[in-house]
Amino acid sequence: MHLYPDYSLKAYNTFGLDAKASHFARLQKAEDLSPLLLHNYSPIFILGGGSNVLFVNNFEGLVIHNEIGGIAARQQLNGKVIVEAGGGVNWHQLVCWCLDHDLGGIENLSLIPGTAGAAPIQNIGAYGVELKDVFYELEAMDLETGKLHRFKKEDCDFAYRNSIFKQSLRGKVLITRILIELTSISHNINTSYGAIRDTLAEAGIKQPTIKDVSEAVIKIRTEKLPDPLKIGNAGSFFKNPEISQEQFEELRRRFPNIVHYPGSGGLIKVPAGWLIEQCGWKGYRSGAIGCYEKQALVLVNYGGGSGNEIWNLAQEIIASVEGKFGIQLNPEVNILG
Ligand code: FAD
Ligand code: EPU
Repeated sequence: MHLYPDYSLKAYNTFGLDAKASHFARLQKAEDLSPLLLHNYSPIFILGGGSNVLFVNNFEGLVIHNEIGGIAARQQLNGKVIVEAGGGVNWHQLVCWCLDHDLGGIENLSLIPGTAGAAPIQNIGAYGVELKDVFYELEAMDLETGKLHRFKKEDCDFAYRNSIFKQSLRGKVLITRILIELTSISHNINTSYGAIRDTLAEAGIKQPTIKDVSEAVIKIRTEKLPDPLKIGNAGSFFKNPEISQEQFEELRRRFPNIVHYPGSGGLIKVPAGWLIEQCGWKGYRSGAIGCYEKQALVLVNYGGGSGNEIWNLAQEIIASVEGKFGIQLNPEVNILG
């Protein structure tokens, strides 16, 4: 396999940052990984679509770009269908493939950038559905031993924007393929998210199909989120924080309009976008970087900004939210360097 020295990652991260990798390789077949590992490069970073990473500096090590392709499906006895996708398959293309084959379950996850292999890393989620809801199994290669392992759902510790691959196995495996279990009949149409219901109602759709739901999600997303091909960004920069009932009640006394949702384990989820907007950051711009005018949770690079500038802005936002609300924001984006 060819190794490229001093390789620009500009086209490989959705912030459009011109960071360099000291070594870069494309992985098209899982079998090619073991020989690559024999070179003992360290550190190694697995890159998919680069839609959830911030390169603060150049990367001194080996970046492996996952390009393992292929989509296949097999019928299950329970009437469901298992769809298997190579880790390098574009996630939205997988969604479209499933819709074309009338397979339901991931339509609410339409238009999320990135690869199928990265989807389990943070248990991607949007509009009332998370990957874990359809997850069946994955195959991953241990980057130290070169051995392939299978992970069932219960092995992955999926939670909100979290999994074992972000915790104890962080940076230790490469996900070569994923398997998801979808419906071929009696689709479960999930319109629990208010914006989906509103969009379908506006279009006069009373009995939506999975394609209708996908189109509604695409409409909502394109209205709210910047297209990385036009404005560099990595989606939500921070996770939505969850706070105790007690802290929430105390905050509600001071901020009666505080937006909130039920969180996990009795906690209260407060949208980070609301907290950031309340601190006055929405629409902020300094040179080439800023906080998106339509969605305060998205930090943007209008072109020519550096990873360092974005990271400094993120630190300022964290400090001001902490100062005003006593809530610590944590990045969703994977910070490198
Ligand atoms: P990368 O950014 O390349 O990598 C992310 C992390 O995963 C890195 O740590 C990397 O090392 C690791 N990784 C990647 N591939 C593999 C692999 N095969 N094996 C092991 N580790 C791997 N996310 C959501 O959950 N919901 C959303 O609604 C959403 N909306 C977004 C909207 C926009 C406009 C953008 C730019 C991003 C959005 N995201 C969203 C974030 C992002 O799309 C997802 O996190 C996506 O899964 C990242 O995929 P990727 O291939 O680009 O991963
Ligand atoms: N809000 C504001 N100001 C803003 C943005 C949001 O006040 O500038 C408030 C609004 O009250 C709004 C609420 O926050 O009702 C929630 O906003 P939105 O529906 O846009 O969702 P979000 O919580 O900001 C999350 C995910 C998104 C996902 C959407 C839809 C996280 C960190 N982000 O955003 O995921 O697409 O819900 O499910 O959980 C991503 O992870 O990159 C991402 C884009």
